[in-house]
This record gives sequence, structure tokens and C-alpha cells, in this order.
Amino acid sequence: MYQNFCFLLSFLFMATSCAFSQEQASLSSKIDQNISIVFLSRTKNTKVLAEIIHDQAGGTLVDLELENPYPQNYRAIVEQVARENETGFLPPLKTKIENMDQIDVIFIGFPTWGMQLPPPIKSFLNQYDLSGKTIVPFNTNGGYGIGKSFETIKQLCPNSKILDGYSTKGGEEIYGILFVMEGEKEKRVRVEVQNWLGKIGLIKHAEN
Ligand SMILES: Cc1cc2nc3c(=O)[nH]c(=O)nc-3n(C[C@H](O)[C@H](O)[C@H](O)COP(=O)(O)O)c2cc1C
Repeated sequence: MYQNFCFLLSFLFMATSCAFSQEQASLSSKIDQNISIVFLSRTKNTKVLAEIIHDQAGGTLVDLELENPYPQNYRAIVEQVARENETGFLPPLKTKIENMDQIDVIFIGFPTWGMQLPPPIKSFLNQYDLSGKTIVPFNTNGGYGIGKSFETIKQLCPNSKILDGYSTKGGEEIYGILFVMEGEKEKRVRVEVQNWLGKIGLIKHAEN
């Protein structure tokens, strides 16, 4: 009798703990699947910022690649981007997101280029219907700020909810300073990102 009781008790315990862990697993994977962190980065500053956001918010990192990569030479890329901005050319993207309909929150990260949103990000926003989704911009720049970039996102995505973005100083390629997101700078950015994600309510539970 006592043995039967113990068996029943342990069976009940296993059944409930299993149900609990399945619920936990589906909850955390659901959070991960619903967030996408899309970024464009030439000299890796925005890439590291994207990875910091990923550590703290979860989701899937998507490094935007172009069909025809930009020139390595700084002057050449500056001229090409200026031409593309003038003519409204949208460079075709190699990266495709197949499951866009399942994504609720899209972080969009980019460097400031010519005080504007880089043309490949305009391509991305033009290519997908982001109506009803939440968009969260983030940026690195050479010290002159975000320019018109966050405003352009609002204009290109009138039916999306745009949350407050985050921006920090990155490289100054014009002076030959390419990558700065390491050491003390990276540590500072981690703290700032944690505060920002907390404010907009997108920090992973484990970090709270
Ligand atoms: C084509 C080009 C244009 C740029 N234009 C600006 C600008 O207008 N304002 C600014 O502050 N920084 C400008 N920068 C500097 C980048 O925004 C900065 O180095 C950024 O951190 C680079 O990010 P990444 O390392 O992810 O590529 C420009 C860089 C490039 C390559």
C-alpha cells in the first residue's frame, strides 16, 4: 500500500515537472523565434553592438549581405553611397528572411552613412511588409550622430511601431579609425544597452 502511494506520488511529481519544463522551453524558444536582429556592418562596430543586443534580448542575428558588395576603398564607397542616395537606387540584397511572417520584433542596426540611412537598409525596409511589427533601430556613427536615419525608418514603415532606438559612437573611418568596440568602450556599451533594453521592455527575463 505504502509502495503504491510512493509510486503514485513520484509519477505525479514527474508528470508535473515535465509539463513545467516543456512550458518553459516553449516559452523561451518562442521569445527567441519572434525577435530578429538585422544589421549592416562594414568595419564590425555595428556587428559587435548587434551581438551585445543579442546577448541581452535573445533572438536571431541576421548579417545583411549584398548581391554586389561595396568597394573596400573608403573614398569609393562614400561616392557610391552618395550616388545611390541621390538616385534612390536600392542595392539588391543577398540575405533573405524566409519566416518574416513569424517575426514580431525586428531590431535594425546600421552605421550612419552620409548622415542618412544606408541604402541597403532602405532596400531591406522596402523589400518586406513590416506592417504591425515592432521595429527597434540601433546605430553606430563616426561622431556626427544618426542624421536623418531614424526618421527615415519612421517614414518607410508607417504601419509599424517604432521604439526608441540606441546609438553610440563607433569608428571614424575618415581618420583611419576603423574598429573601436572593445575594452572599456564595449563594457560601457553593454551597460547602456542593458538600460535601454530595460526601458523599452525587451530584456530577456534571465537578465532581470
Ligand atoms: C560610406 C561611409 C559614410 C559615412 N558617413 C558618416 C556620416 O555621415 N556621419 C558619421 O558620423 N559617420 C559616418 N561614417 C562612419 C561610420 O558611421 C562609423 O565608422 C560606424 O561606426 C561604422 O560602423 P561599422 O563598423 O558597423 O561599419 C561613414 C562611414 C562610411 C563607410
